Amino acid sequence: MTPIVLSTWSFGSIANNAAWSVLREQGSSLDAVEAGARAVEADPTVNSVGYASTPDRSGRLSLDASIMQSPSQCGAVAAVRRHVHVISIARMVMERTPHVMLAGEGADAFAESQGMTPVADMLGDDMRRKYEAWRTAHPEAINDPGYAYRPKANREERTPGGRAAAVHDQPDDTVGVLAIDHRGVMAGACSTSGWPYKLPGRVGDSPTIGHGLYVHPKVGAAVATGSGELVMGLCSTFHAVDLMRRGASPADAAIEVLQQMVDNYDLKPQHQLAVITLTKTGEWSTACLRPGFSVAVTTPDRNEQTDPTTVLLA
Ligand code: GLY
Repeated sequence: MTPIVLSTWSFGSIANNAAWSVLREQGSSLDAVEAGARAVEADPTVNSVGYASTPDRSGRLSLDASIMQSPSQCGAVAAVRRHVHVISIARMVMERTPHVMLAGEGADAFAESQGMTPVADMLGDDMRRKYEAWRTAHPEAINDPGYAYRPKANREERTPGGRAAAVHDQPDDTVGVLAIDHRGVMAGACSTSGWPYKLPGRVGDSPTIGHGLYVHPKVGAAVATGSGELVMGLCSTFHAVDLMRRGASPADAAIEVLQQMVDNYDLKPQHQLAVITLTKTGEWSTACLRPGFSVAVTTPDRNEQTDPTTVLLA
């Protein structure tokens, strides 16, 4: 089987480089997607994933991640505060516990029990300054649970008429990685700090199996990124894979789950959502609600950033 790795956003190239170094040595798709997510988690220039990403309203990071090979092989963590590499904790949940998801203090404590070292300063000085500036500018946010910080949709991903901007400054943006290895085994991973300045305790789509990520070895896989609350009422990645199980092409499955968002929500200009769909034979597609999304694709013949096939609300 020809290996392939697909990752979300312009920072997907960071994930793909790490994942491909595993796949090209005949490594497993599970190791590849974990390596891909870890590379983005470690990169302080990506402010929506891992180290130095955007905190919750209290100024503390709260990280979510999931990893999946099949319905019986999946793991997730939510609201992790002391560890950067949440994708590796998710994998340990999958491989070392009878559970699928651990959350909050329990997830951090589990990571420590498995030998991971907590990180004293998850935020870093630059992000701490950004948070303080945000807090000063939005005093109304602190005590109002109904307050919703609504950054612009992710058009800043691109410079006008050009390729991806150098600064990865996209809110809500999960790194989602899907891969097939040379044995034909598929895996997926996603990792995020979630909605910027969210209410403490908010958990999004990314760590919830069937919402931010779904993989079925007999059918295919899907990963979502963007405004997680849109995904969570529709189980979008499970839906996409189920559509493919019933015969839809990857393109039609991606479009249909986004059309469901258009049909079921009062979408605001800041809402952005994108999905990548992949069949077990390596056919894939991607679609998004609004311009600004791109996918990193790497195969033995190709290593590039590519546009979605469909932008529903262009
Ligand atoms: N899609 C990431 C989140 O909403 O948390």
